[in-house]
Amino acid sequence: MKPNTWFALCGLSSFAAAQAVTYQNLTSANVRVDTGQTGPAVEEVHYYYDQWPIGLAISKQGRIFVCYTRGTYAYTLGEVTNTTAETPYPNLALNTPPGGLSTTFNGIPFGSSSNNTFISVQALYVAPDDTLWVLDTGRPSTNETEMLTMPYAQPGGPKLVAINLTNNSISATYTFPASVHYPDSYMNDLRFDMRPNVTASGKGICYIVDSSNEGRTGFIMLDLGTGESWRQLTQHPSTLRTFEDVPSYQGIPFYQRSPGLPLTNNQEGLDGAELSLYGDVMYYSPLTGDYVYSIETQYLRANPANDTLATQRASNNVKNLGQRGGNANGFSGDSNGAVYMLMPEQNAIYNYNTTTLQAEAFVRDPRIIWPDSSNVGFDGYIYFNINQLPYQPDWNNGTDLRQYPGVILRAKLPNNGTKSTVLGA
Ligand SMILES: *[C@@H]1O[C@H](CO)[C@@H](O)[C@H](O)[C@H]1NC(C)=O
Ligand SMILES: *[C@@H]1O[C@H](CO)[C@@H](O)[C@H](O)[C@H]1NC(C)=O
Ligand SMILES: *[C@@H]1O[C@H](CO)[C@@H](O)[C@H](O)[C@H]1NC(C)=O
Ligand SMILES: *[C@@H]1O[C@H](CO)[C@@H](O)[C@H](O)[C@H]1NC(C)=O
Ligand SMILES: *[C@@H]1O[C@H](CO)[C@@H](O)[C@H](O)[C@H]1NC(C)=O
Ligand SMILES: *[C@@H]1O[C@H](CO)[C@@H](O)[C@H](O)[C@H]1NC(C)=O
Ligand SMILES: *[C@@H]1O[C@H](CO)[C@@H](O)[C@H](O)[C@H]1NC(C)=O
Ligand SMILES: *[C@@H]1O[C@H](CO)[C@@H](O)[C@H](O)[C@H]1NC(C)=O
Ligand SMILES: *[C@@H]1O[C@H](CO)[C@@H](O)[C@H](O)[C@H]1NC(C)=O
Ligand SMILES: *[C@@H]1O[C@H](CO)[C@@H](O)[C@H](O)[C@H]1NC(C)=O
Ligand SMILES: *[C@@H]1O[C@H](CO)[C@@H](O)[C@H](O)[C@H]1NC(C)=O
Repeated sequence: MKPNTWFALCGLSSFAAAQAVTYQNLTSANVRVDTGQTGPAVEEVHYYYDQWPIGLAISKQGRIFVCYTRGTYAYTLGEVTNTTAETPYPNLALNTPPGGLSTTFNGIPFGSSSNNTFISVQALYVAPDDTLWVLDTGRPSTNETEMLTMPYAQPGGPKLVAINLTNNSISATYTFPASVHYPDSYMNDLRFDMRPNVTASGKGICYIVDSSNEGRTGFIMLDLGTGESWRQLTQHPSTLRTFEDVPSYQGIPFYQRSPGLPLTNNQEGLDGAELSLYGDVMYYSPLTGDYVYSIETQYLRANPANDTLATQRASNNVKNLGQRGGNANGFSGDSNGAVYMLMPEQNAIYNYNTTTLQAEAFVRDPRIIWPDSSNVGFDGYIYFNINQLPYQPDWNNGTDLRQYPGVILRAKLPNNGTKSTVLGA
């Protein structure tokens, strides 16, 4: 029976019915097949059995921190304790906002405004001084199977928190005014440049991507010395979603089927971002597009509050670097200046080579079923989460098609690549 006939008999969408591809010899004719593999060996590091992960970061000592966006999960920030288990980090109390994850005003849901507990953590970063940086969106799902009910953010909830890994205690917390982090913003990833000369305060800067599905995408910059924050490239075409993008996962065209809504497409904007080796260029792209863009970071660092032309100047200095061969979500960099891009359509990680001006294949493996967030460790491996996101219920009309375990995979970087410490971050 042809697979599509089977899908029709089951009454399922072709995407919903599709399972991961398998590779086998179908005939004795020795027909050439796609092995699904390219590049270095992919190793399995950790298995998730309790909660589906999103971000991860590896410390100098090899401690693995993971985070989970949540609605009903018990915790949103965790540490891997053995190959099959994680535990709330730093403890369960800091993962438990008083009054719950969200609230309602006049029937409209809002995330918690708690600025000293974790609500829904999206991304993590470990700096060379062994500080764990935690990015909390403040926007939990109010129903794990129904992301549609993702509430707006209240000031206080969306935050950047620094944790000292030596004594596991919070050393700094930064929140954002509603004029910088909009109620419909969604902070998706973060990068740092800690060198004293990048800000007037001398304490470094954090670059945050706002992937807002509601559409006010862009970069948020935070001066770590003054706590001041500002935006650039808000709704610039290079940060917006591609209208009606239809990617393919495991060979199946993907449309978004959310419970109670008409058929639509993924609406996510700016997602992947990585700094050049010396911090002078930011490479980036929206999730739902094939183009790579860049901008010199001086234009992102310019605060519009101090320069009325800063917004125009940033907008005018975006470069389109051409297509890379598919959609990408998270980026990672290494000590060789590689710009690794996670490629969910190709079950792969590509590298945008800034010398050849081309995307290059780095690694591909059939186990890479939606790579989501990667982190280059101090040990010369790139670590990445596999969370089967296209199979989640809120993209499949309420049916959870994911199968535990989720996985942390890793691959050895080429040319002795390892975590870059040039930017002190
Ligand atoms: C498929 O065929 C190739 C070439 O004959 C052979 O090397 C390989 O072992 C076969 N694989 C399986 C799963 O039978
Ligand atoms: C991992 O930790 C969990 C929770 O503490 C425990 O139940 C499990 O037995 C441990 N597994 C191994 C292989 O040590
Ligand atoms: C979440 O939404 C689903 C689908 O609408 C519904 O079946 C379920 O009862 C809801 N769960 C909670 C905890 O509200
Ligand atoms: C972290 O805490 C330890 C122990 O109190 C301290 O020695 C170290 O300087 C702190 N690290 C940073 C980056 O502040
Ligand atoms: C952790 O270390 C920092 C920096 O040395 C210090 O300020 C803080 O009090 C320490 N916290 C705990 C719980 O020991
Ligand atoms: C956290 O909230 C408290 C109480 O509203 C406030 O005093 C404090 O300044 C806030 N901290 C940050 C970093 O926003
Ligand atoms: C900061 O200093 C480094 C040298 O330490 C230099 O290469 C870099 O261009 C400077 N950055 C800025 C923004 O001035
Ligand atoms: C979701 O399921 C409901 C109930 O079966 C159906 O009426 C609706 O058309 C489905 N939505 C999509 C986008 O497939
Ligand atoms: C930029 O403007 C803000 C708001 O007016 C002010 O607080 C800050 O000190 C200014 N920064 C610089 C570097 O001038
Ligand atoms: C980019 O390509 C050049 C020329 O082929 C090569 O030498 C270099 O290693 C590549 N860089 C990265 C970071 O892959
Ligand atoms: C990697 O490092 C090893 C040990 O320092 C060295 O022998 C080797 O030449 C390096 N390889 C490359 C490609 O740089």
